[in-house]
Amino acid sequence: MKIQFSTKLTEGKTKAKHAIVVAVTDTKKLGANAAALDKKLGGAISRALQAAKFDGKKAQIMSILGVDGLSGDRLTIVGLGAEKDLGALTFQAVGGKIASYLGRHGIKSAEVIFDGYKGVKVGDAVAEAAFSARLRGYFFGKYHTKRKAELQPSLETLTFVTKDDAAAKKLYAEYEKVADGIDFTRDLVTEPANVIYPESFAEACKQLTKLGVKVEILTAAQMKKLGMGSLLGVGQGSVREPRLVVMQWTGGKKTQKPVAFVGKGVTFDTGGISIKPSANMGDMKYDMAGAGVVAGLMKALAGRKAKVNVVGVAGLVENMPDGNAQRPGDVVTSMSGQTIEVLNTDAEGRLVLADALWYTQDRFKPQIMVNLATLTGAIVISLGEFRAGLFSNNDKLADKLTAVGKKTGEECWRLPLGPEYDEMINSDIADMKNISEGRGAGSITAAQFLQRFVNGTPWAHLDIAGVAWSGKGLASAPKGATGYGVRLLNQLVKDHYEG
Ligand code: BES
Ligand code: ZN
Ligand code: ZN
Repeated sequence: MKIQFSTKLTEGKTKAKHAIVVAVTDTKKLGANAAALDKKLGGAISRALQAAKFDGKKAQIMSILGVDGLSGDRLTIVGLGAEKDLGALTFQAVGGKIASYLGRHGIKSAEVIFDGYKGVKVGDAVAEAAFSARLRGYFFGKYHTKRKAELQPSLETLTFVTKDDAAAKKLYAEYEKVADGIDFTRDLVTEPANVIYPESFAEACKQLTKLGVKVEILTAAQMKKLGMGSLLGVGQGSVREPRLVVMQWTGGKKTQKPVAFVGKGVTFDTGGISIKPSANMGDMKYDMAGAGVVAGLMKALAGRKAKVNVVGVAGLVENMPDGNAQRPGDVVTSMSGQTIEVLNTDAEGRLVLADALWYTQDRFKPQIMVNLATLTGAIVISLGEFRAGLFSNNDKLADKLTAVGKKTGEECWRLPLGPEYDEMINSDIADMKNISEGRGAGSITAAQFLQRFVNGTPWAHLDIAGVAWSGKGLASAPKGATGYGVRLLNQLVKDHYEG
């Protein structure tokens, strides 16, 4: 979808499949641009606002068709809710709504008027709406050979009309790069596991070199030399060889310690010998979403030339149950030297991250380290699709993530860590076991396991099992892969680590 900004509506003859959109608060007052249009249309907008059951609630939407004298064939009015509640998230919700609504109604192009609200920097608000519209318009049509035209959102061009188009353009230029990163993540996550496996995922990351990212790919043999027995054990039942992708963006001062992001990249999780039930097993193609977010985040940061040093690490394996697969009860030695009794081969994400986290802190000595992983089904039970689970050994970092989550709409919710949970993963035969007994605190004990591999680095773990994929769609995402985390961590970097 092409996004544009302008200070004026286009005039002239009625264009087919073209909508003029006016956004109003619940006072239903029209701003200057919308009032001028209303006058030109002989009061059609004001009359419609009076006649219809429309009270300007957030993301409420209605259309009037065939308005005489309008340069489009549809006049659409969208609500913003109460003026006192206007903020970035309102414009996000409304921008996404406009894109999804027009995209479903066969509209090809639209002009959206935003103006006349008090206490809002209208240029920034318009950029938020544009960002969300662009993200909501995502469509993965690669494998449709017959119904593509019917399924694809119709909207091709969206023009935002605002008096502060300069500010909108400036902020959107940055958001566009973030959106490119998010869409990269979504593509990787949506691709099936016969297309995206460790080697092809790593290959896809190589495109980031064009943006100035240094991309290294470690093979299984190289990881073996490093002693990554934990990660390699997960991959040994698959014909697809594991990979570790290390991406570096050096936009900051030479002396600045990097910020590190580490992702779980299980390109398919059958559960291994502790095999999963067949119902919904296909969902496990998105068990690489953590790694997908790290790749998309690197694309976003490099794309907008962030003034910061960043390392992104993706631990990539396929968890399969062949004759060479690891068995429940096997003991593996991780790169840290710590031994692990693998009691359940389906608790594999933590085994991958154990070596990826240790490697990252050991090699880069980062100032902070944040990992993302579709780690536990238990977090889906706790928080559903709307918040990621947040675990951290550092209150400041946890607070920053929580605040940035509220600001961007990619929220996370902190859960505790503690010695009583840590004890639950002590093993009789090795330093630890990869599952705890009983059904309690599954997401927490998984986080405790990860914490044993961060070596005291200020660290946060985001369990994104619930948020990586949306069943119904969200304000800024159609149903499917959401790309959750790119926007959050881009903003974390921007607000706290750049400059
Ligand atoms: N990949 C799954 C977790 C998951 C569940 C991701 C649902 C996305 C949606 C993970 O590897 C897993 O299987 N975890 C087990 C751990 C258990 C064996 C301790 C789980 O959550 O059941
Ligand atoms: Zn698993
Ligand atoms: Zn998994």
